[in-house]
Amino acid sequence: MSDGATARGSATEREEARKIAEGLEHLSGFGNEHGSEAVPGALPVGRNSPQRAPLGLYAEQLSGSAFTEPRAENRRSWLYRIRPSAAHPAFTRTGNGALRSAPFAQTVPDPNRLRWNPLPDPAEGTDFLAGLWTLGGNGDVTQRSGMAVHLYHANASMRRVFSDADGELLIVPERGGLLLRTEFGLLHVEPGHIALIPRGVRFRVDLLDETARGYVCENYGAPFRLPDLGPIGANGLANARDFRAPVAAYEDVEGPVEVVNKFCGNLWAATYDHSPLDVVAWHGNHVPYAYDLRRFNVMGTISYDHPDPSIFTVLTSPSDTPGLAGVDFVVFAPRWLVGEDTFRPPYFHRNVMSEYMGLIEGAYDAKTAGEGGFVPGGGSLHNMMSAHGPDRETFDRASAAELRPQKIDDGLAFMFETRWPVSLTPQAARADHLQQGYDDVWQGLERHFRPLH
Ligand SMILES: [Fe+2]
Repeated sequence: MSDGATARGSATEREEARKIAEGLEHLSGFGNEHGSEAVPGALPVGRNSPQRAPLGLYAEQLSGSAFTEPRAENRRSWLYRIRPSAAHPAFTRTGNGALRSAPFAQTVPDPNRLRWNPLPDPAEGTDFLAGLWTLGGNGDVTQRSGMAVHLYHANASMRRVFSDADGELLIVPERGGLLLRTEFGLLHVEPGHIALIPRGVRFRVDLLDETARGYVCENYGAPFRLPDLGPIGANGLANARDFRAPVAAYEDVEGPVEVVNKFCGNLWAATYDHSPLDVVAWHGNHVPYAYDLRRFNVMGTISYDHPDPSIFTVLTSPSDTPGLAGVDFVVFAPRWLVGEDTFRPPYFHRNVMSEYMGLIEGAYDAKTAGEGGFVPGGGSLHNMMSAHGPDRETFDRASAAELRPQKIDDGLAFMFETRWPVSLTPQAARADHLQQGYDDVWQGLERHFRPLH
């Protein structure tokens, strides 16, 4: 779609989408029992499923947890829609593109430290779904355990609708704003924000800029939640009130709409005779969110030593073992470093957990930035027990630095930290943009040992 008219049309569409995105209202809070109606009177009062739902709508429950899970874990929403979701034709298999799912058994798990440059530019007409490219992951989609690391690159808005039965999608834009049109309403995210689309929720992604690029954590396990704060107290880290849920907004569109469903690792498509984004009102707690990572209330030392990076956890997907996450989402946001007699960058480390790191903007304080280094849109993988830490240049600089208060404000990095090793897809293991010689950053760390005698 490269003719001038279409290109102009796209620009106009982007402009319109941006106008909509910038005027959005939202509901505030994470994990709330929210409710919203796009048309007054559409939301039933005092019951979920009246004999006749208001305004001729269909009532439908979307269960994100088993009915019987404890109240604190229970997630469901009631949707009041023009047509019930059940009114659809059969799905048939469609191509998976570069999207892959667990189990990831096509490569030998690699203990090496690995780093990638950003994805190359996508082919023209690539939408968010076609632009998903899987790096690797762990677990098993059919067991609802584990996670996948995807990257995306796109240059076209979606004309189709997508939903993921295999897990929730944590979208981390690195380049280009997105307008997410979901069953629950619209969300606007820019680089530095995240979006969280719950399992099974249908959505479409409109681009607000010519191109879009970023990361996605597909979490097959328990839904992400805010971490407990323990002795930190009642406030801090990601504050619940800063999460934005959409207000109800619906499409009343008759005509063919392609709907793609990811199910047990494969994409299935059906052509509906209407848009399934036709929810006029809803209430519940299984809802999508957006969050601005710059709102993260960073905690750190005011005496000495670098706290473990778990202090930077935004969201966690717990497992059956207390404290052991299926995956944590961690952000390295702007912050002051004031530790006395402290090596301030992240320490040398070997970890039973596996760490995938990405960079949204700027630089990361343990790595020298620049071409061939850890760059925005790129990523690194430090798998279970692989030794990592500051590179030589960073070590030398930080060991000799005068320890004045120092503001780290030139970067926004994040980590998907998971309990199981991350196995690569063949496309990631053999990618042209896999950096060669990443090990070199730790070469030349000199011997300084001087035994006393
Ligand atoms: Fe680490």
